[in-house]
Amino acid sequence: MSLYKEGIAYQYLKETKYDRESIFRRDDLGPMPRPPVYKNYPEAPRISLPRPAFEKTESLWSILNQRRSKRRYTIEPISVETLAKLLWAIQGITLSAPEYQFRTAPSAGALYPVETYLSVHHVLDVKQGIYHFNVLDFALEEVAWGNFSEHLIHAALDQAMVGRAAVLFIWTAVVLRSMQKYRNRCIRYIFTDAGHIAQNLQLAATSMGLGCCPVGAFYDDEINQLLGIDGEEETAIYLATVGNL
Ligand SMILES: Cc1cc2nc3c(=O)[nH]c(=O)nc-3n(C[C@H](O)[C@H](O)[C@H](O)COP(=O)(O)O)c2cc1C
Repeated sequence: MSLYKEGIAYQYLKETKYDRESIFRRDDLGPMPRPPVYKNYPEAPRISLPRPAFEKTESLWSILNQRRSKRRYTIEPISVETLAKLLWAIQGITLSAPEYQFRTAPSAGALYPVETYLSVHHVLDVKQGIYHFNVLDFALEEVAWGNFSEHLIHAALDQAMVGRAAVLFIWTAVVLRSMQKYRNRCIRYIFTDAGHIAQNLQLAATSMGLGCCPVGAFYDDEINQLLGIDGEEETAIYLATVGNL
C-alpha cells in the first residue's frame, strides 16, 4: 500500500482541488471573521522609511541571469535607503484604488495575507531588533529591541547565515485574510503569495549587488514566539537573509 498517499500532503491537495461539481458547494467551516488587511503596532516606536529613489540598474534579463541564493556575507552594514528599496520591492504600494491598494507582488484576491517582520542586525542608523513593516505607512514598527541573531540561527536549524545577514526577513501569514474567501484552499494561495514576495526580494537584492537566500527550514514556533504571534491565526511561513557579499 502507498502510505504516502494517505498523508496530509496528498490529502490536502486532493481535498482542496476545484472541480466543477464541488466548487460552489458550501463547506462545513462556518462563518469566518474578516481580519483587517493591514496590521500595525500603534504604540510601537517607529522609523519612517525614505521613499526609494530608483537609479538605473542592469536589465531585468541580466538580473534574472545573475540571481543565485547566496549564503556568505560580510558584516558590512547596509543603509536604510537600501533596506527601504528592498521593502518597497516586496510589498510597496504601486496603485491605490477605492477599495484596494495594489502592490509590487501579486496576491490571490488582492487579500495580502503575508506580513513582513525584520530582524535587523547590521543596518546603518537602525538599532538591532525585531521590526514589523507597516505597508500602508511605509514605516518600521519596533517590536523588540536587541540582537536576536543567536536565537534565530538556532531556530533556523543552526544555519549561520541567518545571524550573519545584515537583515533577516520573516514572513508570516494572517490565515483568515485569505481563508474568508478561499476557505481551505487558501493555504495554496498563501504560500504562492509568499513565493512572489521572496522572488521580488531576491531580484531586488541581486540588482543592488547584495546576497540573498530564502530559508524554509526553521522551527516554526520558535520564530512565532519571538514575534509574539500565536502560530495559528498568524504564523511564520518563510524567511530570507540579505547581506553584503
Ligand atoms: C522554499 C525554499 C526554501 C529554501 N530553504 C533554504 C534553507 O533553509 N537553507 C538554504 O540554505 N537554502 C534554502 N533555499 C534555497 C535553495 O537551496 C536554492 O534556491 C536552490 O539550491 C537553488 O539554487 P538557486 O536559488 O541559487 O538557484 C530554499 C529555497 C526555497 C525556494
